[in-house]
Amino acid sequence: LARGSLYDRIGPDTLALLVHRFYAHVARNPDLAPIFPADLSETARKQLAFLTGFTGGPPLYHELYGHPRLRARHLPFPITPGRARAWLACMNAALRETPGLAEADAHELYAALARVAVHMVNTEEAPD
Ligand code: HEM
Repeated sequence: LARGSLYDRIGPDTLALLVHRFYAHVARNPDLAPIFPADLSETARKQLAFLTGFTGGPPLYHELYGHPRLRARHLPFPITPGRARAWLACMNAALRETPGLAEADAHELYAALARVAVHMVNTEEAPD
């Protein structure tokens, strides 16, 4: 049986590696890159702080930036269903590439993120 929080099982170093891998994919993704800043270092710092609390670790994002209000913070960016799928594909790739991540923990984190991602969609797909 899995014990402790997802954060305890994954560990801070592996979580940081995952976030690093994730934004490497985002930067190369043609659907995502245009809506992200060119320099992803601050975005990655915020995401690592967020995921630390999200997985049951210390609430770093809250401490540094206040309540996440994730849907509101994403409203300035046109997030279509396709971009949500692209975001999750980048996360899935990063999860597979990150060494030291147990498959069960990777699946649990992916499933939790997939539930959040659908709520970030705020824009219809552009018609062809
Ligand atoms: C920020 C896109 C889903 C957590 C951002 C930013 C963009 C973005 C463009 C702004 C980057 C910046 O200005 O630094 C997307 C897209 C998603 C998505 C296309 C597809 C569904 C998610 C999910 C989570 C998340 C599922 C959390 C589980 C965050 C956080 C920030 C952020 C914590 C930083 C907010 C801040 O500025 O303080 N996202 N996001 N995002 N996103 Fe997402």
